[in-house]
Amino acid sequence: MENVFESTHPLVRHKLTRLRDKHTESKKFRELVRELGALLTYEATADLATEQVTVETPLTTTTGEDLQEKIGLVPILRSGLGMVEGVWELMPSAEVWHIGLYRDERTLKPVAYYNRLPVAPTVSVCLILDPMLATGGSAVATVDILKNWGVAKIKFVGLIASPEGIARLHDAHPDVAIHIAAIDDHLNENGYIVPGLGDAGDRQFGT
Ligand code: URA
Repeated sequence: MENVFESTHPLVRHKLTRLRDKHTESKKFRELVRELGALLTYEATADLATEQVTVETPLTTTTGEDLQEKIGLVPILRSGLGMVEGVWELMPSAEVWHIGLYRDERTLKPVAYYNRLPVAPTVSVCLILDPMLATGGSAVATVDILKNWGVAKIKFVGLIASPEGIARLHDAHPDVAIHIAAIDDHLNENGYIVPGLGDAGDRQFGT
């Protein structure tokens, strides 16, 4: 599917397997979420624009490149939080804008309970961070919010997706690139991705 990128990197595959393992305890789980967040972001940012600059080495002056784009990291609360640190290590000047959503029991639609975005956009590229792309409802709602904010370039970075979640996000926003470590088999009747890794929030936060 166009604009959907499932990582084939051996490090990603190895770390993802450790993450799935039910015997992996919280501390190690958080470490893996952080590392996978960074590895997938490395792949997701391969097309960021740069501008030519001059730089003085100890020997001479030469040309190099600086990132041209202003990047926003958008973790979806709460499980997206664990991916921020690893990504921030790669891009320390990125802004972090949290989005919190819950599902209205009557309409079944996602409703934002936390959104402190200012009126005008302060970034040109947003990376949405959420380990699990399950139904796709939160991801679609977050992209809607960011597009309304005025951000044109948006990417989704996650760890495991269901085919249903990929289809929903891709159908609603085909321009949004989806970078994922694995696309699993299906969503079960409780909304869990199978084989998946269980509840990414509970496993990170020990709840
Ligand atoms: N959220 C999770 O944490 N796990 C799933 O499998 C689906 C949604």
